[in-house]
Amino acid sequence: MSEENKEPVIRIRGLCKSFGENHVLREFDLDLYRGENVMVLGKSGSGKSVLIKCIVRLLTTDAGRIDVLGQNVADLDQDALDRLRVKIGFLFQSSALYDSMTVQENLEFPLRRHWMATTKGDTDALVDEVLTAVGLAHTRNMYPSELSGGMRRRIGLARTLILKPEIMLYDEPTTGLDPITGKEIVELILQLQRTYNTSSIIISHDLNVAKLAADRIAVLYDGRNHLEGTYQQLLASEDPLVKQFFIFM
Ligand SMILES: Nc1ncnc2c1ncn2[C@@H]1O[C@H](COP(=O)(O)OP(=O)(O)O)[C@@H](O)[C@H]1O
Ligand SMILES: [Mg+2]
Repeated sequence: MSEENKEPVIRIRGLCKSFGENHVLREFDLDLYRGENVMVLGKSGSGKSVLIKCIVRLLTTDAGRIDVLGQNVADLDQDALDRLRVKIGFLFQSSALYDSMTVQENLEFPLRRHWMATTKGDTDALVDEVLTAVGLAHTRNMYPSELSGGMRRRIGLARTLILKPEIMLYDEPTTGLDPITGKEIVELILQLQRTYNTSSIIISHDLNVAKLAADRIAVLYDGRNHLEGTYQQLLASEDPLVKQFFIFM
């Protein structure tokens, strides 16, 4: 690896975020390297979604520093922040599609919003590409109500991919799906990592995500990055907290 490749695409140091007396993140550290899938594992309410929101500055932080693609996000003006956000794709559990729009129209929406691919030919080509990438080319003229939950999640992913993000943030990508559909989403995450060389932070409780998609797992506990390792390393860990996660997963 060259020196340049060793520079993390996301570098978080000493991140603190409280809501009143609720100290959610306390000196949380994390690095994400190019092309890597890092999973953040933490129990419900431990601050996983807060972490993701801090990274894209949907929430302000109390202390610490977050660098994304070499920029300190706290320093960016609105324009620079918008430009950075275009490079980051989010898949939130609640990322709903517009029910009144077809799949094609849903996918065109982010392009219009960011003034990208302004000709019909370019737009159609991009819609085709991302629909094919998520294996749903035949749904172009369908409405979200005609799709299963798993298909809607895939279209949500396609809508994010259409902007060709360098970084993906997945917040519980398989939650609420049956195990088979969940596994399909995990496989898709892996396929997208390979195709687009995206770097991803994946927040999840799902054993399949940990086992199949995570190059590294960070255990979020008590607001800190308690411990990091590969799935195999955590599975073999004698740390009582880590053991607890693997029993309940
Ligand atoms: N906007 C907010 N205002 C106040 N408290 C919040 C806000 N967002 C999250 N919290 C609190 O922060 C804690 C962590 O929430 P969250 O990151 O959503 O947990 P999870 O790990 O389940 O994603 C919870 O106690 C939650 O109530
Ligand atoms: Mg959450």
